[in-house]
Amino acid sequence: MLRSAFLWLSDQPRVFNFLKGNRLGRGISSRFVAGETVASAVDVARALERTGIKTTLDLLGESVSNEDETRVARDEVLETIDAMAQAGLEANVSIKLTQLGLDISPDVCLDNLRKILDRAKERGGFIRIDMESSAYTARTLELFHRDVVPFYQEHCGVVVQSYLKRTKKDVGDLLAVGARVRLCKGAYAEEEDIAFQEKSDVDDSYVELMRSFLANGNYPALATHDETIVDLAIAFVRERNIAIERFEFQMLYGVRRDLQQSLRQRGYNVRVYIPFGTAWYPYLMRRLAERPGNVGFMVGSVMKEMFSPARRT
Ligand code: FDA
Repeated sequence: MLRSAFLWLSDQPRVFNFLKGNRLGRGISSRFVAGETVASAVDVARALERTGIKTTLDLLGESVSNEDETRVARDEVLETIDAMAQAGLEANVSIKLTQLGLDISPDVCLDNLRKILDRAKERGGFIRIDMESSAYTARTLELFHRDVVPFYQEHCGVVVQSYLKRTKKDVGDLLAVGARVRLCKGAYAEEEDIAFQEKSDVDDSYVELMRSFLANGNYPALATHDETIVDLAIAFVRERNIAIERFEFQMLYGVRRDLQQSLRQRGYNVRVYIPFGTAWYPYLMRRLAERPGNVGFMVGSVMKEMFSPARRT
């Protein structure tokens, strides 16, 4: 119920305008979002990399309505790649195809994507194509197989979602071409004819796909904060003698920082996904949908800061 409410809120621009304009909103967003500029995101990435954690930056901004806006988004991604490289970081950026124009013109989208991939290749970096709602799954994977795999294999990867019933077949196709894949559970509201609705089914699907990737994948990225699943991954690689350099765990900025650090201390590769930008609102609502308990926690800590005597001086 609360999950649906937050997913509904993620689509309400008026609420965003209200939150954007006040300190409480900005305070809440800072828990999950690394500021509004490339420079603020690079600072956060640098601090994490000093602790041995790898990063990927994500420029928030999911809805574009014309070709010019897609080019603005593309240029911001190019700027992010350059800024990471100049800061001595691996230029690793996560993008969304709708931001580059998938809904407006497939040709424009592809042209924008190629410019980004060429720059990433030039900088020795990596671009991850995030997976959006099921309306885009087929188009994203088709484009990935046709236009990315043959030309940018080690510089670009895609994402699959364990809640979709089609994913098992998609994973087979991706493994067959040695694609770089991030596995996640899936963050959108999907109908039951195409997606598992029970958490246990989504988790079972995740574990099955995860084992296929660990056994046969090309440096798979296991994106989850689910400690039971993390433990199952560790048990599986130990049992199969799979080297820990052959995969990485990925988590979101601000979520389970304790687990991120403890995995790193145990020698596992960990990458944190760091969103930034002015369009933080839908992203924040999706995180709250995953864990409504965050609302109390975040409002409490922001209020504490706002009203602490030190802050008022
Ligand atoms: P689950 O939701 O079952 O949570 C397990 C436990 O993790 C919870 O009990 C809680 O302890 C903790 N937890 C989870 N979410 C939390 C939160 N927001 N705040 C605090 N604690 C939390 N989705 C998508 O559709 N397309 C994509 O491209 C991506 N990309 C992506 C990249 C990375 C690096 C991550 C980590 C996640 C994504 N996702 C995504 C989101 C993903 O699909 C999923 O919605 C979230 O990761 C939550 O699922 P978990 O696997 O963490 O498990």
